[in-house]
Amino acid sequence: MRLKGKSALITGSARGIGKAFAEAYIREGATVAIADINLEAAEKTASEIGKNAYAVRLDVADLSSIEAAVKAVEARTGGLDILINNAALFDLAPIVEITRASYEKLFSVNVAGTLFMLQAASRSMIARGKGGKIINMASQAGRRGEPLVAVYCATKAAVISLTQSAGLALIKHRINVNGIAPGVVDSDMWDEVDALFARYENRPKGEKRRLVGEGVPYGRMGKPEDLTGMAVFLASDDAEYIVAQTYNVDGGQWMS
Ligand SMILES: NC(=O)c1ccc[n+]([C@@H]2O[C@H](COP(=O)([O-])OP(=O)(O)OC[C@H]3O[C@@H](n4cnc5c(N)ncnc54)[C@H](O)[C@@H]3O)[C@@H](O)[C@H]2O)c1
Repeated sequence: MRLKGKSALITGSARGIGKAFAEAYIREGATVAIADINLEAAEKTASEIGKNAYAVRLDVADLSSIEAAVKAVEARTGGLDILINNAALFDLAPIVEITRASYEKLFSVNVAGTLFMLQAASRSMIARGKGGKIINMASQAGRRGEPLVAVYCATKAAVISLTQSAGLALIKHRINVNGIAPGVVDSDMWDEVDALFARYENRPKGEKRRLVGEGVPYGRMGKPEDLTGMAVFLASDDAEYIVAQTYNVDGGQWMS
C-alpha cells in the first residue's frame, strides 16, 4: 500500500498503459481519476477496476477541459497528489509527406497537453502546500529520431525536456517531476502503429510488431504491466529525492 490515501489523475487511462497504471495505483491504495477523451471507455474501465476509480472526461488539448478535470478531482478527493501525463497520439509519414494537421494534432496533445496539464496540476498542488508527484510519459522515440516518425519523436523529445525544466522549477514546492521512457509496448496503440508501418514500409500486417519484439534485448515487446513498478515507485515517498529524470523501461533497448 505505497500510495495509501493518495489522489491520482491519469490522463488517457481508459485503455493501454494508462489503464495498467490505474490498476496498479488502486492496488497500492490510491484513488484514481480515469481521465480520458473517451468518457464511455473511461467509465467502463473505472467500473472494472473498482470503487476507488472514477471516470472524468478530459481532452488534454483543451485548457478548459484540463481546468474542469483538476476541479473534479479536488471536489471528489480534496486535492491532487499524483498526476501521470500519459495521453498521447501517434502518427508516422515520410518527411516529405508530413502534414501541418498531423504536426499540430500531435504537438497539441503530446506536448501542449503535457505542459498545461502539468501546469494545472502543479498550481493545485502548490495551493494545497503538500507537494506532489508528476510523471510524464516519454518514449525511446524521444531519445533519437526515426526516418518515418519525425513528429512523434520530436514530441517525445519535448516531453523529456519539459520534464527537466518543470522538475527543476517545481522541486522547491516538493513536487517531483520525472518521466518514463518505454520502448515498444504491446498496447492498442500498436494496432495503429503496425498498420501505419505496414502501409509505409510495404509489409504484411503484424510483421513490424513481430520484428520490434525480436529486437528487444529482453526478448519480447513490453507489456503495460512491465511499466507499473516504475510508475508506482516514482509516485511513492521512496522517490522523494529523484528530480527531473526520465527513466528507460524498455527491456534493454536504450542506454542513456
Ligand atoms: N505503446 C507503446 O509502444 C509506447 C511506447 C513508448 C511510449 N508510449 C507512451 O505511453 C503512453 C500510453 O500509450 P498507450 O500505448 O497506452 O496508448 P493508447 O493509444 O493505447 O492509449 C491512449 C489513451 O489516451 C486517450 N487520449 C487520446 N487523446 C486524448 C486527449 N486529447 N485527451 C485525453 N485522453 C486522450 C485515448 O482515448 C486512449 O485511451 C503514451 O504517452 C505513449 O506515447 C507508448
